[in-house]
Amino acid sequence: MKKIIIAIDGFSSTGKSTLAKQLAKKLQYVYVDTGAMYRAVTLYAMRNGFINASQFDKKKLISDLNKIKLHFVFNESKGFAEVFLNNENVENEIRTLEVSQMVSQVSTISEVRKKLVEQQQALGKDKGIVMDGRDIGTVVFPNADVKFYMTASADKRAKRRYKELLDRGDSGITYERVLKNVESRDYIDSTRLDSPLTKAEDAIEIDNSNMGLEEQFDRVYSLIVSRIKD
Ligand code: DC
Repeated sequence: MKKIIIAIDGFSSTGKSTLAKQLAKKLQYVYVDTGAMYRAVTLYAMRNGFINASQFDKKKLISDLNKIKLHFVFNESKGFAEVFLNNENVENEIRTLEVSQMVSQVSTISEVRKKLVEQQQALGKDKGIVMDGRDIGTVVFPNADVKFYMTASADKRAKRRYKELLDRGDSGITYERVLKNVESRDYIDSTRLDSPLTKAEDAIEIDNSNMGLEEQFDRVYSLIVSRIKD
């Protein structure tokens, strides 16, 4: 069966990674979470004091970009690849609300995007890949074989994200804070100058506000199988 590139884009917490993981498992493809890469760069910037709630020294981050090395290692028990920042597994650290609050700002920097997009394109050179993010179908792989654009209401997304953070044991989280973060990331991600989140012309839109995981997977999978057969 021929190997293809599957691009999944959409706002935060639309279930892109859940769907991408399901597809990668079923098709035995590689799954790449590009949001994890932007989060890891953000963590680096936070740890080095380049960004906090009141300031962001973009120049320092840009001049340090060549010191930031990212790679993924498949975790058998979790069933997906975890992200490593300079050889340290940071999969947990990058999921905090603090990183979520800074990551959209870091993602507006063209130098950061250029570096990560090049790495993402290299990861997809042999096809057989499912990649999720904001600009996969528009910038990273404009010729991807199948593109999905996921949407859901901000309230539904914030509820899902809030539950995830509670399940992780994060304290001091409120639904209102999470909703605010979801809305502010929606705004920054879709209005930034470089590679804003938009639906690629040929992407298939999936609104999963009221759709179960199984129904979503069945619908998406049958669309993909028809493309693989072409
Ligand atoms: O998918 P996520 O919520 O983990 O992504 C975190 C942030 O990274 C998101 O708010 C915007 C940025 N991002 C991006 O700009 N481009 C991508 N391809 C993936 C993520």
